[in-house]
Amino acid sequence: MSQLKTKHLLGIKGITEGEIQLIFETADNFKNIINRPIKKVPSLRDVTIANVFFENSTRTRLSFELAEKRLSADVINFSSTSSSVKKGETLLDTVNNILAMKVDMVVMRHSSPGAPHFLARHIDSNIINAGDGTHEHPTQALLDTYSIREKHGDVAGKKVVIIGDILHSRVALSNIFALKILGAEVMVCGPATLMPKFVSSLGVKVELDLLEALKWCDIANILRIQLERQKMSYFPSIREYAIYYGVNTEVLKSLDKQITIMHPGPINRGVEITSDVADSDHAIILDQVENGVAVRMAVLYLLAGAGVN
Ligand code: CP
Repeated sequence: MSQLKTKHLLGIKGITEGEIQLIFETADNFKNIINRPIKKVPSLRDVTIANVFFENSTRTRLSFELAEKRLSADVINFSSTSSSVKKGETLLDTVNNILAMKVDMVVMRHSSPGAPHFLARHIDSNIINAGDGTHEHPTQALLDTYSIREKHGDVAGKKVVIIGDILHSRVALSNIFALKILGAEVMVCGPATLMPKFVSSLGVKVELDLLEALKWCDIANILRIQLERQKMSYFPSIREYAIYYGVNTEVLKSLDKQITIMHPGPINRGVEITSDVADSDHAIILDQVENGVAVRMAVLYLLAGAGVN
């Protein structure tokens, strides 16, 4: 396979193992390039990309912008907090105005699940979902599974537990899809109140006890509590959550093995993970961030090359 079959990257659901492997192999090449003294390639010269963010972001936004600049694209950035959205402009009007400036690709983050799918039905440009509410965050799942492949040689056969606020997490859903496609065994762990009712129908194990989950896994991907999406109280207090579900050195030392620690960020130190664990040799959290640039370069490059603009 040398091309993606899809014009957009709206989610991991619907893409194939072959397409993910193509993204990984392309990212391998870009990772070599961005570690060279001359980090830029002309692949997307004359391609204009708009990063349209209706929700806060540090990693995803900077990583996409850097990926686009490394590929020599022309880049424009939009943030809803400093835009005419504040004056009542709709999503479609906002994006159509951006597209009138001859934009080829749109990278969009939005708080509403399905917002990028809506856009893809109404405009011709390539759309990349940079996180839509509690739904999907496909490039995060790609960089996470790429990082597992880099650290462990392969994703197939690995036991991966995703710990935390599964109910509100787009990272969890996209990771479950990507890990299953690539042949990993997947478990989710957290309080019962933060487990979606449908989760076991995705073919994952469900474990409410953190120690049991850590004993089972090779890799733990730890999520923060998404207080900004919670409309009610799902657990008594942050302190109690940290006691039962916080990953700390004591619990890791009680295991008879070492596990790889991942976190998509942003980290709430002292809640879902202690600083000594986040900063330990077994954590690949900053490798995930580094790999995000190469993986996003691969996605942009392959979508632009699909010949569907
Ligand atoms: N992992 C992630 O999506 O981080 P940001 O919200 O900072 O982009």
